[in-house]
Amino acid sequence: MDKMWSGRFSASASNLLDQFNASIMYDRKLYREDIEGSLAHAAMLAKQGILTTEELIQITAGLNQVREEIESGAFEWKISDEDLHMGIEKRLTAIIGDAGKKLHTARSRNDQVAVDFRRYVIRKNSEIVDAIKLLMNEVLVIADKHTETLIPGMTHLQHAQPINFAFHLGAYLSMFKRDIERFESSIKRNNVSPLGCAALAGTPHDVDRKMTAELLGFDSVSVNCLDTVSDRDFALEILFNVSTMMMHISRLSEELVMWSSYEFGFVELSDEYSTGSSIMPQKKNPDVPELLRGKTGRVYGSLMGLLTVMKGLPLAYNKDTQEDKEGVFDAVETAEISLEILKEALKTMEVKSYNMEKACAIGHLSATDLADYLVKKCNIPFREAHFITGRAVAKGEELNVDLSKMDFKYLKEIDNRIDEDVMAYLGLRHSMNARTSEGGTATARTKEQLEYFKNYLKD
Ligand code: ARG
Repeated sequence: MDKMWSGRFSASASNLLDQFNASIMYDRKLYREDIEGSLAHAAMLAKQGILTTEELIQITAGLNQVREEIESGAFEWKISDEDLHMGIEKRLTAIIGDAGKKLHTARSRNDQVAVDFRRYVIRKNSEIVDAIKLLMNEVLVIADKHTETLIPGMTHLQHAQPINFAFHLGAYLSMFKRDIERFESSIKRNNVSPLGCAALAGTPHDVDRKMTAELLGFDSVSVNCLDTVSDRDFALEILFNVSTMMMHISRLSEELVMWSSYEFGFVELSDEYSTGSSIMPQKKNPDVPELLRGKTGRVYGSLMGLLTVMKGLPLAYNKDTQEDKEGVFDAVETAEISLEILKEALKTMEVKSYNMEKACAIGHLSATDLADYLVKKCNIPFREAHFITGRAVAKGEELNVDLSKMDFKYLKEIDNRIDEDVMAYLGLRHSMNARTSEGGTATARTKEQLEYFKNYLKD
């Protein structure tokens, strides 16, 4: 009968129940948040005259000692204590005696866990933002060197139009910026204090919720206690935001895997971030991007898991909610290592510009430029220009020569209105640099985009 809640029970909990019911083996990750929450709660109780100054001094010293014990590894985490809240409170009372028993006045584990978990998630949101920024900086280092490196822009994984490699990377910079904005907006929405909601209905004690909110770095106090003790939107949001970010990382990873193949040969990952095969001695495998792609699936799993846990819960707190933590811990830690290893893999990756440019010479990448020429120079309606260009492409296929290298006489045969100056338009670099519309791939426009991201990262 060593449970804190054992008053109404006459038999002890079975070992099996302890194992099934306990969260202490994983929620102990929240020990810092839990102790800080208790310190703030105790300070508030003392200010309100609910604890004496002497009791506050004892509780503060006791909690600091517990923190030291946890950090030095001396603290004994016991499954029979059920969760970290009870484990810590029990140890506190063992150290300081009766004052420890007063700490839980005007508080429930329901608002306590909501405080701890919410603060952990808020902290992780901003740590992930910092890590995304570091990754973006690394992408910018590569992009800066490749504003003129041609690479086939694709749709349907088919050669479409020539672009430059920095422009391609700029697409990922845009995605990562949106990711940052999502994490930041989640912080703004969710940084409200649950402390003082107690079990579900508030408390008859004269608490000062504003004071604890401020001490704990929350922006404000939550509005409705019934909602607050059962709300896990903040956890769902970080799972969704991490899932979306991982989806972006996964798309880049997919390209890195393809680009590392002999067929593409656009990049080579460094030895440090590649692996070999146990049977085929010649192999150099892009395990890092493959695993990033794979881990994305696992992160989605955590999002679906928590959405499913939450969907049928009546108000207010239900023990089902205890299942919120492991998925979030796993998703957040997966995201953190993913951001870090992607950054390092990119930093040490070799970009094979020559192969990128060589690949542009196949697939008539400047076909749209011929159509645009016919429209602009010859005043031919676009639909007709498209058809004429199609004939030119067919000719190229027949002769096994790319449109950009075709002998002018064939073009003239196809349509007499075409002049020799067309050949300048069909050059691949010209094609890339012709796309000068805002947000386009022309080197000058690409440089503007890189400037935009650099400025964004500055503030
Ligand atoms: N370990 C619990 C959780 O993580 C803490 C809250 C428990 N509250 C309760 N009334 N059983 O959700």
